[in-house]
Amino acid sequence: MERLEIKQIDHLIEDIQRLKETRKAIILAHNYQLGEIQDIADFTGDSLKLSQKAAETEAETIVFCGVNFMAETAAILSPEKTVLVPDPAAGCSLADTINIDQLKTWKMKHPNAIVVSYINTTAEIKAESDYCCTSTNALKVINAIPSNKEILFLPDIFLGTYLQTITGRKLQLWPGECHVHASIRPNVVNNLRGQHPEAEFLIHPECGCLTPSMYYLANGDISSKDTHILSTEGMIRRAKESSASRFIIATEVGILYKMKRDNPRKTFLPVNPDAVCEYMKQTTLDTVYKSLKEMIYQVKVPKNIAVKARRSIDKMLELT
Ligand code: 13P
Ligand code: SF4
Repeated sequence: MERLEIKQIDHLIEDIQRLKETRKAIILAHNYQLGEIQDIADFTGDSLKLSQKAAETEAETIVFCGVNFMAETAAILSPEKTVLVPDPAAGCSLADTINIDQLKTWKMKHPNAIVVSYINTTAEIKAESDYCCTSTNALKVINAIPSNKEILFLPDIFLGTYLQTITGRKLQLWPGECHVHASIRPNVVNNLRGQHPEAEFLIHPECGCLTPSMYYLANGDISSKDTHILSTEGMIRRAKESSASRFIIATEVGILYKMKRDNPRKTFLPVNPDAVCEYMKQTTLDTVYKSLKEMIYQVKVPKNIAVKARRSIDKMLELT
């Protein structure tokens, strides 16, 4: 039975590879995707790296294995290409925390403010923003804005609070959070760090444990030498480059697949083993196969929105 299943999986992968050639397609996969999807992808990465790949590829079709805002960003950057998502229900709880009417109302209350939107937002929100940013370049974007300008930062409250702390600048923050990262709590971090004092602590800036961690860092209660606040790709790079043999990981657990594969002798301890993004796990080999076979589900961003959204993304990419 098991052998048959493996054979079926092998066939499916062969079919995907064959269809990929027929469709002149590339597969982009986020670092939280299932291991089998990361294995068939041409490129894996964080939101920034995948956006850059989508912008520069010569492929005619992009199969985006991630969540909808990522595929929308690819469609905005490559309007002449066909962008497909294997499952259109792959949303994002963080992106859902703000809608266009809420942003317009907020902007009306702060008419002179610069709007900086994290990439985890809809195309409509990006179109109403001055800058887009990702976990890799959020600090650069904030630092590029003159200090006398008021900034509305949305939608992630933990990332926003972090930026406020390290820049020493008062930001207007939208109170959004991702349900997966909000579940990564400080008390568990403290326990794990107590049990493994030699371990490096890698933390994604969307995490619920970020604010207290910064407080402990500032007070010298935890060592800044062993603590790194990074994007998912930054965490994967750090795990490879560091001489440490044990790491405490604060983010969605899909990232562990590549970390373990790249570093078989190192140990990776998730702060919350149940921190699973169900949206990211909706993409399977079956849905990727179906997507390429039937050329579904095409992601289309209306031109008037795409043109405006692109300005905020380009302003970010110029700084990167
Ligand atoms: P990265 O850009 O760091 O991969 O983060 C994207 C994301 O959705 C994290 O939840
Ligand atoms: Fe969105 Fe959170 Fe999933 Fe990232 S982990 S895609 S922020 S719901």
